[in-house]
Order: sequence, then C-alpha cells, then structure tokens
Amino acid sequence: MARPSHNAALSGIEEYRRQVLSHPLARGMSPLEALDHFKSVPAERFPCVAYAQRQGVPCTQPRGGFPLFEAQRRLTQQLSDAGADFIPLTVDSYTRHNQYETATQLLKRSEEEGQNYLNGYPLVSHGHELTRELYRGLRKPVSLRHGTPDARLLAEVALASGIAEIEGGGICYTLPYSEGFPLDRCLLYWQYVDRICALTSTKDLPIHRESFGPLTATLVPPAIAIAIEIIEALLAAEQGVTSFAVSFGQTGSMVQDLATAKVLRSLTRRYLVECGFDSVETYLVYHQWMGQFPPQREKAAALIAGASVIASMISADKVVVKTVDEALGVPRAEINAEAVDTVRYVLRICGCLETVTSPLVEREAALIESEVCSILDAVFELPGQAFWQSVFRAFQLGYIDVPFSPHADNANRLISMRDANGSIRIVEPGAVPVSDDDAREERALLETRKDRAEKTYLQLLSDINMMV
Ligand code: 5AD
Repeated sequence: MARPSHNAALSGIEEYRRQVLSHPLARGMSPLEALDHFKSVPAERFPCVAYAQRQGVPCTQPRGGFPLFEAQRRLTQQLSDAGADFIPLTVDSYTRHNQYETATQLLKRSEEEGQNYLNGYPLVSHGHELTRELYRGLRKPVSLRHGTPDARLLAEVALASGIAEIEGGGICYTLPYSEGFPLDRCLLYWQYVDRICALTSTKDLPIHRESFGPLTATLVPPAIAIAIEIIEALLAAEQGVTSFAVSFGQTGSMVQDLATAKVLRSLTRRYLVECGFDSVETYLVYHQWMGQFPPQREKAAALIAGASVIASMISADKVVVKTVDEALGVPRAEINAEAVDTVRYVLRICGCLETVTSPLVEREAALIESEVCSILDAVFELPGQAFWQSVFRAFQLGYIDVPFSPHADNANRLISMRDANGSIRIVEPGAVPVSDDDAREERALLETRKDRAEKTYLQLLSDINMMV
C-alpha cells in the first residue's frame, strides 16, 4: 500500500539533470539557468499573480503555436492585445515525440520557404535564448501546451525561457496521446518535470503546473477524469510543486459540468490536505468543448459562447478558449484573437459571482463524489513502494480506465453513454471499483433516455459527435 508522501521527492535529480542537459539542444544550459533567469522576470509572468488579480471573472487562455519566431511573436502580441490573460506556447508534434532533428529540419524549411511545415512552435529547436526574446516586455504568464510523454528536455528549455506554467502529467499526456510509450516510464519522466518545476520555484513565485483533464475528450465519465486529476495533483505535490491547476473538458451536459466542477474542486483540496500537502494552492481550469466541432462558424461561435456561460457558472479560474475555425485546423492569429475577445465578452455580460447549483446538480455531484472516493481509496490500497507504483498498477488492473484511449496500458473495458440530459453515464464499469449502488444508479439514470438507437455503435457515434 502506498499513499502519497513528502518523502517521495526524486533523489539524485542532479545526475539525471546533467544527462538531460548534455543534449546539444540544451545549448550548454546549467541547472541554475532557469532559476537565475526568473530573477529578472516580472512577477506578473507567474500564474499565481494572474489568478490573484482575476476579480471573479475567469482568466482566458487561447492555444497557439507557429513554427517561425516572428509569427509566434506576432501571435503573442495579438493575443495579448485581445485581452488574453495567459499567453500560450503550443509545441509542434515532432517535438512532442522527441523528434528534435525532424523538427529542426522542418523549421529550417519553413524559414526558407516562408510556409508552416510544423503545427506548433519547435521550442527545443529554437532554444531558450531566442525564446526569451519572444516575451521581452510581456507582463502575463506564458503557458506551455503540448502533449509530451517525455517532456524532460522540453520543460528544461521552457523554464529557462521564462515560461512559468507547464501543462501535462504522466497520465494525462500519455493515455490520450500515445499508443506504446510505457506508462511507468512516463510517470517517472513527469516526476522529473514536477521536481525541476519545484526546484525553479521560490516561495512567493512558484512555477505552476496544470493537468489536462479532458483526456481523450470522448465520453470520459467525470469520476475517471477527476480521479486522474487528483492523482496528478498528488504526484506533483510529492515532488514539491506548490501551485497546481486541475482541469476538465466540457462534458456536453450542463448539469454534469456544474457537478464535476464542484466535486473536482472540493476533492482535490480534501485529498491534498489529507495527504499533508495543505500548502499547495489549487485552481480550476475549464476546457471549452474538446470533441468534434461543427464546421459552420455560426454554430462554432454558439458552442464557444455556451461554454463561456458554463465557465462563468462554475467560477472557473481559467477557461481554455476554442476558435470558430476549430473544425478546419490550426487557426489564424486574427481568428484566435477574435475568439479571446468573444469569450471575454460573454464572461463579462454573464458575470456570475457565485457558482450555480440546483438539486439535480447536487444529486449528480453526490454520485460522482462517491465514485471518485471508491476509485481513489482502491488505488491507495494497491501494493507499491511509492504512490506512482500503485497508480501504475491501477491502470494495469483497469481500476482506472479511460474510454477510447489508444494506449496499450489502458484496459478499455469501461463503457459509457449519454443519458437524457446528455450526461455521460457508466454503462459497464469493467474493473473500475465503483460501488454496486453507484453502478445501479448510473444505469437507472441511463434509462431516462428514450431515444436509444437500435445499434449501440450508432448511439455511441451520435453521443461522441453531439455538437456537430
Ligand atoms: N495553434 C492553435 N491551436 C492549436 N491547437 C493545436 N495546435 C495548435 C496551434 N499550433 C489546438 C487544436 C485544438 C486543441 C487540442 O489545440 O485546434 O483545439
């Protein structure tokens, strides 16, 4: 049995760091490079400062990354001018998969031909010295958005560039994105990332970590997402991280979104405190619809506006913004800036100063909470010398099971479907240890739905693509 512990901080990190920083693209960086650089970075570049200033309205954050430095600089300026509270740095897919040579070649080709041959900013290829220049004069936090199972070098370069928010985690950046990258290795690689974030923090200005709760964004029951978010918060806390955001993606059901926010917020605190990590500041981030978007811009705008209303109703600390071109591909800078402006408009006009609830929301929240506690208590009971080992075991046993994950270490036995409210219900829990009562209630709620398709796969397809 292995509960999260203060004694789990990675030992011998200096030696691992030397290995990682010996890569030519680390450009001779020393382990103290980031800490030194942050001394000259304004406090407003740290998420805790941005969050402290938000005054009831959720902060906004778009996504965005272009291969060319100049394009990224223009994007940064345009998003900042549009009022984005957090500035994104979305990294290209080759860098995410540690294929730095290919990323470097395609960057060169993009520069030569003035075309984008990468779907994001190749941070490791550009390096920390140049990337610092992107943010000269900027007084807002920059958020690293990627999807990288082994983000050790990437995180080193990001920190040395003055980026104070790193998204990801050993589970959330592996199960949805990778088929074969071993989960146990990813958990260890993310311990490294969490640890260097902690080592680059000061008491007042901590480096901030954020987990990615939407996962596959495909019929993931809230209890599964919440359990994973809490586990990642605990794993980060073990490494000394003191500023952490849990997140989740719009489910497609307003009731379930309100309930999910409530449980995610309260249980994250409760488990951190129970495990002795009271000093960790936590935040709640809401992702606008992460599934298939409608191709019509009017409908996309309506979906984005609706999601912004929900972000306001749950008093999210931050909302991650989609654009009207989501169905088409990487958005142009202007479209992205317009999205930020629109979302800020909706947040302003519906300024909800308290979280909204109802008896229906409370009932949903009670069910989700009970399920999350069953799952986490079972994970804590699993054998292991350290918490991460129990977590790894939980996936091998199917105690945590993410629908539609392509990953070999995921059980894929849990089956979910939508009920009459559009809420995601667990039809078949597989090996996920929910109680019999909760499993019965899930199925009873599903019965509220009258329009069951004749073929299950057709039902699933329409449940997955409900926004199109
Ligand atoms: N610029 C802007 N958005 C991006 N996304 C992925 N790469 C980029 C980029 N380079 C967005 C997708 C989707 C989400 C997962 O990230 O459009 O909304």
